[in-house]
Amino acid sequence: MNERNPHAPNGDWSPDEFREAGLAAIEWVARYLERLPELPVVPPVAPGDIAAQIPASPPEDPEPFDRLLRDLDEIVVPGVTHWNHPGFLAYFGITGSGPGILGELVASAFNTNGMLWKSSPSTTEVELAMMGWLRDMLDLPSDWFGMLTDTASMSTFLALAAARESVEGMDVRREGLAAPGYPRLRVYASDQAHSSAEKACIGLGLGQVGFVKIPVDAEFRMRADVLAEQVAQDRAAGWRPLAVVATIGTTSTTSIDPVPEIADICERESLWLHVDGAYAGAAAVLPEMRDAFRGLERADSYVMNPHKWLFVPIDASAFFTRHGDVLRRAFQLVPDYLHTTDDAVNLMDYGLQLGRRFRAIKLWWVLRTFGVNGIRERIRSHCRLAQLLAGWIEEDDRFEVAAPVPFSTVCFRGRWPECDESELDRRNELLAERVTRSGIAFLAHTRLEGRITIRAAIGNLRTDTSRIESVWRALRSTHDEITRVGATSAQGESR
Ligand SMILES: Cc1ncc(COP(=O)(O)O)c(C=O)c1O
Repeated sequence: MNERNPHAPNGDWSPDEFREAGLAAIEWVARYLERLPELPVVPPVAPGDIAAQIPASPPEDPEPFDRLLRDLDEIVVPGVTHWNHPGFLAYFGITGSGPGILGELVASAFNTNGMLWKSSPSTTEVELAMMGWLRDMLDLPSDWFGMLTDTASMSTFLALAAARESVEGMDVRREGLAAPGYPRLRVYASDQAHSSAEKACIGLGLGQVGFVKIPVDAEFRMRADVLAEQVAQDRAAGWRPLAVVATIGTTSTTSIDPVPEIADICERESLWLHVDGAYAGAAAVLPEMRDAFRGLERADSYVMNPHKWLFVPIDASAFFTRHGDVLRRAFQLVPDYLHTTDDAVNLMDYGLQLGRRFRAIKLWWVLRTFGVNGIRERIRSHCRLAQLLAGWIEEDDRFEVAAPVPFSTVCFRGRWPECDESELDRRNELLAERVTRSGIAFLAHTRLEGRITIRAAIGNLRTDTSRIESVWRALRSTHDEITRVGATSAQGESR
């Protein structure tokens, strides 16, 4: 293949060349997945290390494919943080599973743009069918409209745009927010909600003053009583309360807001209820977890991310709303060249973006390859591993669990009773950093009640009991090391 140049008369690979390169690429991916457990989860590189190895300009003449594969090994892999690694416990552990990876390949081969039904009927129809499957699996109301977006951030943006469109007596789409006499709008979420909710308010012109953080209780759940008071106060002060973003599975601790009570307030106050289940949403596939999702059926909109805990490669976010008509009213704007006469669903009418990837193929392939029972088994096993780790932490007085563990994420801290708060923060940061540098696992941290807290977020299909055991061993020995030398000298030592 290397000597065959140019390739097909059109400059692309011929089918045979594609086959040859494709087999080599698949072999490369299979080998990568195979050796993943031996690679350090986080690469030991500094900013600029990778860019320095990429030529400043593209090649004038074609390069053979084997050289491209070689550069994956030599340039790219050394700088990859391996999200598909069994020790990836940072942020939210996720998996790009085999069928999902191949689904991406097929989607690229089709290279469709699903803006209209007509621009590729299968692209729209497989997507809508997959939304039906998700509704069924996750026990969501069967009449909700659903579609895929790239991220939960975009899904939440669309939800709040629809909320804004739904306000009676305001026509923001036409008049803008600054129209004379329009009240200022406010959205509420707990102080543990993901920053995407506030960002959506920035993007929608509500401003950061249009976003109010409601405090949480001792288990990091939104205080519904404070929400009710804040809404009443704001109304009295001339604000128009617009929406509440409740979270099932918050980013730091995976806490669960009291959705039924929040839904009562929303109903009483005519507020749009958006529920963010970006991470935890997949757990609704387990009948024993359904209680965590109580009240969700009363939401106006909902997001869960198949690319977080449903083994679908990034990106794929599932956005649902009971008011598909309102969402369409907010966004439908059809230029002449896209006018159609059929009465099919055109997904470009339901959001900001015109062009749409064929994301549903990878979701379809993952759901069929695992089966719902296979997915249940994996999610259950991740929750079990989290309970195992939390149990060990609880029993060891060098550590403490920092928040309840309703799903597969454990928040904890190293304890050093002799230290003040700032030394404790330093030591916990160092603990996570050192275990991460050992290559066994990537542990990130958050702040809870002002204190550095380590998170172990289990969501990778390759993470098993032996990996969690190794992480626990590394945590204990690193705790002992830090105790011996103290954080300040340990920091110096590790430089
Ligand atoms: C609860 C929650 N919502 C939203 C998001 C944003 O997700 P995305 O990266 O898909 O925008 C996250 C990210 O971790 C999250 O944890």
